[in-house]
Amino acid sequence: MTATTIVRGLPPGPPLRMLQLIRYVRDPYAMLRGYARRYGDLFTVRTARVCVMTGRPDFVKQIVTASVDQFDAIHEPGPARVLGLHGTTRMAGRALRRDRRLLVPHFQGEALNVLGGMIREAAIEAFAGFRPGETIVVREPAIAVALDIILRTVFGADTPERRQEFRTAVRAFSKGFGNAPFMLLTALKFDNDELPPYRRFGAARRRLEDLLQDAMRRARATSADGDGGPPSVLSRVVAARYDDGTAMSDEAIRDNMITALIAGHETSVVSLCWGLYWLHREPRYLQMLLDELAPLGPDADPMAWGRLPFLDAVIKETLRLWPVVTDINRKLAQPMQLGTYELPAGTNIAASSAILHYDPDLYPDGETFRPERFLERRFGPHEYLPFGGGERMCPGSHFSVYELKIVLATLLTRWRYTLLDEGTMRVKRMGAMMTPATGVRLRLDGARW
Ligand code: HEM
Repeated sequence: MTATTIVRGLPPGPPLRMLQLIRYVRDPYAMLRGYARRYGDLFTVRTARVCVMTGRPDFVKQIVTASVDQFDAIHEPGPARVLGLHGTTRMAGRALRRDRRLLVPHFQGEALNVLGGMIREAAIEAFAGFRPGETIVVREPAIAVALDIILRTVFGADTPERRQEFRTAVRAFSKGFGNAPFMLLTALKFDNDELPPYRRFGAARRRLEDLLQDAMRRARATSADGDGGPPSVLSRVVAARYDDGTAMSDEAIRDNMITALIAGHETSVVSLCWGLYWLHREPRYLQMLLDELAPLGPDADPMAWGRLPFLDAVIKETLRLWPVVTDINRKLAQPMQLGTYELPAGTNIAASSAILHYDPDLYPDGETFRPERFLERRFGPHEYLPFGGGERMCPGSHFSVYELKIVLATLLTRWRYTLLDEGTMRVKRMGAMMTPATGVRLRLDGARW
């Protein structure tokens, strides 16, 4: 028997940093799968930072099941400026676990059920203005739907005026960090508040913080009165207590809500675009879904939509085929052995859904949209990674799947469409996300039933 040699140092990877950066920005899916084919299960990528990447299921399992003390928070000035210093993205270890235990339940389970009606309303509002024969670039109304849903259900903006105030503030905020000068400064790790792009962004963030502070004040007043509609995520978090009876600080609530806004907005837009694209590209699956939806009708109880197995499989397959977040990143606080490599503390590592979701043993015929694969077998958390995993897994995973189900069911039970995009859909980067290049173009054909 031969003893395995442990290698101390980083696994191999491509040499040219600038080329990797360009490839990552243009198409991380193709880049990551290409490197996995060339370098194997574990390879090192050098983009804005040096990172060891894998999509091999047992390595992914090691990463997502590691103890809470295995990882440090990743500190980078750009994201800190956008997401703030007090939210969970800046935490690690026991502190991270404590804050997530307070936050995450309010994005899940019972808390979600009551929000279904609001989600349907937002979807109808955004799509009702289109006339038969008109072309819908899905991305545009999808942005309005996703933002509206977060404003209503997470921030508790319950009147059109309040939503409009938030919309204006969110637009300025997103413009502030989504422009080239801001991104260039953060990529070069310049960290001076007086630089004009940072100053402009700072003013936009303060405006959003003020609105959030006001929303917190209202949430406290409403929960004291016990009046009003279904409680928003914000009002539940404001009322929540740690085990020792204390509340989360206003700064932490504010930063966590801003993070939810950024993390939960564009991700839902892109996923809805892909869902509508694939269903119209593969009409037999659209028909199977319509057959499942028909008995419940367009005004079904949203919770009943939430329980439909084929609708669930369609969403899962959409998120498998084009995972919006291609890799989940961690920084080692302690050394970790992955395969034959002993990676030192301080190493950046990432588990890549873009590779894992195309593993031929898990997903035969992985390039094909085939929702029934999720009815034929169950996948473990290390085999399916659209929402990441472990102590940092997306707190909005239940929320966004529920949202996607209701929005898809609402749009498909009310209206009929024809896909106008032909051939293979290319992907294009918009800010941090890769999106279908055309935004997905549908012609509205008329009412469904
Ligand atoms: C289809 C929609 C979505 C996808 C694909 C998605 C995916 C992800 C992924 C992959 C992560 C990183 C997880 C990790 O590192 O293990 C993440 C983090 C996060 N997501 Fe989502 N997400 C979605 C929607 C949402 C929604 C709707 C919300 C909230 C309303 C949300 C809130 C967050 C937050 C706050 C984090 C940061 C968690 C932390 O580091 O503490 N996401 N998301």
